Amino acid sequence: MYGRHARCPALPPPDAVHYRQRGAGAAPRTSARKRRSMPNAIYYGDNLPILAAMPSESVDLIYIDPPFNTGTTQARTRLKTVRSETGDRTGFQGRRYETIKLGTTSFTDRFDDYLAFLRPRLIEAYRVLTPTGSLYFHIDYREVHYCKVLLDGIFGRECFLNEIIWAYDYGARTRKKWPAKHDNILLYVKDHGCYTFNVDDIDRIPYMAPGLVGPEKAARGKLPTDTWWHTIVSPNGKEKTGYPTQKPLGILERIIRASSHPGDVVLDFFAGSGTTGAAAAQLGRSFILIDNNAEAMRVMRARLAALPITFVERHSPRSKAS
Ligand SMILES: C[S@@+](CC[C@H](N)C(=O)[O-])C[C@H]1O[C@@H](n2cnc3c(N)ncnc32)[C@H](O)[C@@H]1O
Repeated sequence: MYGRHARCPALPPPDAVHYRQRGAGAAPRTSARKRRSMPNAIYYGDNLPILAAMPSESVDLIYIDPPFNTGTTQARTRLKTVRSETGDRTGFQGRRYETIKLGTTSFTDRFDDYLAFLRPRLIEAYRVLTPTGSLYFHIDYREVHYCKVLLDGIFGRECFLNEIIWAYDYGARTRKKWPAKHDNILLYVKDHGCYTFNVDDIDRIPYMAPGLVGPEKAARGKLPTDTWWHTIVSPNGKEKTGYPTQKPLGILERIIRASSHPGDVVLDFFAGSGTTGAAAAQLGRSFILIDNNAEAMRVMRARLAALPITFVERHSPRSKAS
């Protein structure tokens, strides 16, 4: 189902030809095309020239989770514990263990002019989105207000739909101020009169007081609001890839279900460990992933190994962040 408004004519089902019309009676857009599964692709390189080479109006949904400009280098060291007679730790039945460093994955998260880095990339993102497409922009409290003003300027204030708060509960708690335990996800659509929002496909969540709503409603659960409680990727769970700042599949699945159709193309041009690709494939969407970090490529190749993917390497992989 699409966001239904006066300017959004009845659209054909997703597996038919999609005619994108901006006004009642308007001619079909020239970009109208058949939704037959596009091949998945992963690009290694700076996302700006890769985006610039993509055709206009060619992707239905964009999710991005850029570096947040924390002023640090985001790094994770992968460790493995093995049995060893000379190990420095004692475990079950007095056995000795040692911890081996498998390697460190990192990316720079420090920018002199963060908005100057984002702006041209977001302008390209707007251009490559189909007329009914949506952008989810994942950020945190440090930069969200600047990013919202930037995105308002590119998409138009009227095309801002939501600020989603992803709330989690993990890690140390400062005692000097309220511990920050949420990220912000800004949702923009290209046309506020006509966009994809599959309300019936969204996963439902339990009522806080199920006794107040009756058994049928309680069993069905309720629609999530713009505040999403979801655990981070468990440090010991099977979802973990070891890539720093990896986002949970559950968050991406909810976004992709709500704002795209099976067969659609989902783009993530700050792809990291490839969470967007994994969620898109699971839900029958195609994906285009871009990252300029060789470690991200290694992780994505391993994580998405079972899928047919075209790998493309573009020159000058690392763009200058600061
Ligand atoms: C916050 S991480 C994304 C994590 C991802 N959402 C996940 O679940 O694994 C941001 C990514 O952006 C990449 N990146 C930063 N600048 C880039 C650029 N100019 N072009 C392409 N990728 C870039 C980094 O290498 C990093 O992998």
